[in-house]
Amino acid sequence: MAKSVSQRVGILTSGGDAPGLNAAIRGVARAAIDVYGMTVIGFEHGYRGMIENRSRVLQPSEFSGILVQGGTILGTSREKPFKDKNWCDENGDPCAVERIKETYRDLALDCLVVLGGNGTNTTGYLLSQAGLNVIGLPKTIDNDIVETDITFGFHTALAVATDAIDRLHSTASSHNRVMVIEVMGHKAGWLGLYAGVAGGGDVVLLPEIPYDIDNIAAHLENRVKSGKTFSIVVVAEGARSKAEAAMDKKTFKKARQQMSGSIGYRVAHEIEEATGLESRVTVLGYLQRGGTPVAYDRVLATQFGTAAAKMLAEGDYGKMVALRDNRILGVPLELVAHRIKPVPLDHRMLETARDVGTCLGD
Ligand code: F6P
Repeated sequence: MAKSVSQRVGILTSGGDAPGLNAAIRGVARAAIDVYGMTVIGFEHGYRGMIENRSRVLQPSEFSGILVQGGTILGTSREKPFKDKNWCDENGDPCAVERIKETYRDLALDCLVVLGGNGTNTTGYLLSQAGLNVIGLPKTIDNDIVETDITFGFHTALAVATDAIDRLHSTASSHNRVMVIEVMGHKAGWLGLYAGVAGGGDVVLLPEIPYDIDNIAAHLENRVKSGKTFSIVVVAEGARSKAEAAMDKKTFKKARQQMSGSIGYRVAHEIEEATGLESRVTVLGYLQRGGTPVAYDRVLATQFGTAAAKMLAEGDYGKMVALRDNRILGVPLELVAHRIKPVPLDHRMLETARDVGTCLGD
């Protein structure tokens, strides 16, 4: 058995779930236990499980069959210990972080492995600043984590969104309609862009490129003139108009609170108003996060997991496992914390979309 710096390791999954979480847990734990002889302790429901010390020593039998399962066997939550005011000490001061540190000490952990998105890895960084050894893994269907080329979960969501767009084609064509499909992605357009290209979306709207409804209307009307009887419009949930992009944060937030329904509905309404073309909306929602991970996510999550185990064994803490230029490596959590990765405006996929005639709304 290989020599290991870490002996006792905690693991948790936090934030919105994503396909591949179980594959990653299995990757970390199998290598940690079988290759390096560590004890792996799983926390329930993310950081909340650490605050409440709800944990169990993970047994090898728990990893059988989970590679292909969606969700997370550990459960998750959006608990943010550094912002949480629900847990207070006898003086009324927030104590969620103190409780996490206590749990870490009580269980005699050498390191905590956190599987999650921006928020999770930011908390991981803050905990490492507070004295804990932490290793992060990049999970999210949004693919919006900096310092890694890709996150696990993204390809499964992309496959689901692409399949949905494929299915919308036939019904759009039968009814001569404009079909608007809203996909997730938070404040980044990766999912919308890639699904739009994979599914042949005629219009693709992303948060990074504020849209002008007149340009969209002109594009759809030109399609009608050229004999195209239907159109597919892919809208990332974070998409915004040029007028909204010019607003300050507060005004934008207020405008969004007053909007009835999600952005897909507004875009469909604007299209009908501007063109008179009958439009329908599909909001894909949580289907994008559920179910079995595609092969790519299983492989990536497994590679990330086993790489994390190696970092644990070497005592290479304070880092997030990442994929860069086809290499798996650790990047300092400090570089990941408090940042998100939008689609750069010079990204080759934007050029690809435009080259095949996709209107990006600008
Ligand atoms: O971050 C992943 C994500 O699925 C986003 O795409 C989406 O905006 C959000 O989570 C939805 O989160 P919740 O589970 O809190 O509804």
